[in-house]
Amino acid sequence: MLNILIVGAGGHAQSWNAYIKLHPGWKLVGIVDTDTEKLEHATLWGVPEECAYPSIEDAIRWSEEKIDVALITTPIPTHHLIATEAIGLGLHVILEKNMAVGIDQGRELVKLTRKHPELCTMMGTQYRFRPLWWTINQMLAEEDPLIGRLSFLRARSTAYSGTMRSGWRAFMEDIFPSDMFIHHCDLLRYVPGMEIVKVQAQVFKPAWSKWLGSSTVTMNLVMAPKGKERDRDSWVQGQYYGDWQGTGLKAAWEELVEFYGPKGSIRVEPPLERPKESWARDPALPMPLAGEPPGARIIAYLDHDGNQQEVKEIPRRKDVGFNPHGYIDQMYLLDEMLECIKSKGKQQPATCFEDGYKSFLVTRAAIESSRTGSAIWLPKYWLEPLPEP
Ligand SMILES: NC(=O)c1ccc[n+]([C@@H]2O[C@H](COP(=O)([O-])OP(=O)(O)OC[C@H]3O[C@@H](n4cnc5c(N)ncnc54)[C@H](O)[C@@H]3O)[C@@H](O)[C@H]2O)c1
Repeated sequence: MLNILIVGAGGHAQSWNAYIKLHPGWKLVGIVDTDTEKLEHATLWGVPEECAYPSIEDAIRWSEEKIDVALITTPIPTHHLIATEAIGLGLHVILEKNMAVGIDQGRELVKLTRKHPELCTMMGTQYRFRPLWWTINQMLAEEDPLIGRLSFLRARSTAYSGTMRSGWRAFMEDIFPSDMFIHHCDLLRYVPGMEIVKVQAQVFKPAWSKWLGSSTVTMNLVMAPKGKERDRDSWVQGQYYGDWQGTGLKAAWEELVEFYGPKGSIRVEPPLERPKESWARDPALPMPLAGEPPGARIIAYLDHDGNQQEVKEIPRRKDVGFNPHGYIDQMYLLDEMLECIKSKGKQQPATCFEDGYKSFLVTRAAIESSRTGSAIWLPKYWLEPLPEP
């Protein structure tokens, strides 16, 4: 059994706590928050009132139970410092996105983890571990994929998130890139199993929007198989449009992603009948908690002998990450973290800081591209930089 400390007892921490309670390998042993009112209500989290602390240091000093893991669910601008503190105190860390605000902060975190190989780190980018994306990831990883070798992808996610974001989000200059786009960047890397090497983007808000920060990203991207980043012949092109001030034609991310190859394409499509709630439980999923919007379908459009087209639905796989428990989402993350900690860090989570840095970097490179008007070559920021070919 591993003991976990929630740092930042807010909205998203509550969803984590539901998974922690469900998972037989984990126990919540305390909460940390700078809001004393939150600390006064510690029992609502299922811990005794004395297990509420103003800092991680205090938690370690006063907790009667050994703390193994810090789960950091504080506002984004605090992440880099709190994660640095937790690692310095010898804790394994699950860190919510976005990793940091600045590229340098992210790099420093990765360097720190390299000095502590015995500790496990994990980013809370859980979308990867959903049946939809796992299924397409496995399809594209086949030696001869149904659509042939991926050559182009297109993704669109539009939603309307209100006239103003509330709390700390309202004041973040680039809230959409840091809060939502990061999930998409992580999927754009994970689903085809490639690295994003170059981006040219615009990060903005519509002129009529009252938001203080940017709500929208449009981006052209270039991807490459790992190890072939400088080989232009291996590059795959893509286009992305993500919007939190979308009006009229709104679409959840899961509904509009297309993958093209020489033999056909795969499109993620909405269900034939729209569910009343976009996040209602999907009976087809193996787990009761969150997951993907119900009913999203994977449809393959295949060309035979020129233009004769076959259209078929590909069933979603339920064996996400080949895990024997059928866990998805944050429950999968907890399970993976447990296994990695058991290995004493020899095995690191798929979204460890080293990997998560590359998804985080895409969000920052998009902002840099928008500000400078230039295309950004991302491997120049990697810890082992690569020159642009
Ligand atoms: N992975 C996901 O799908 C997902 C979804 C929602 C939010 N998140 C992430 O979770 C994090 C929190 O978001 P939220 O919506 O729960 O925010 P929130 O405002 O509801 O909660 C943040 C909590 O952190 C506390 N806090 C602030 N500064 C602190 C500090 N220095 N030390 C300790 N506690 C501090 C606040 O008092 C509050 O209780 C963000 O990083 C966000 O990006 C991830």
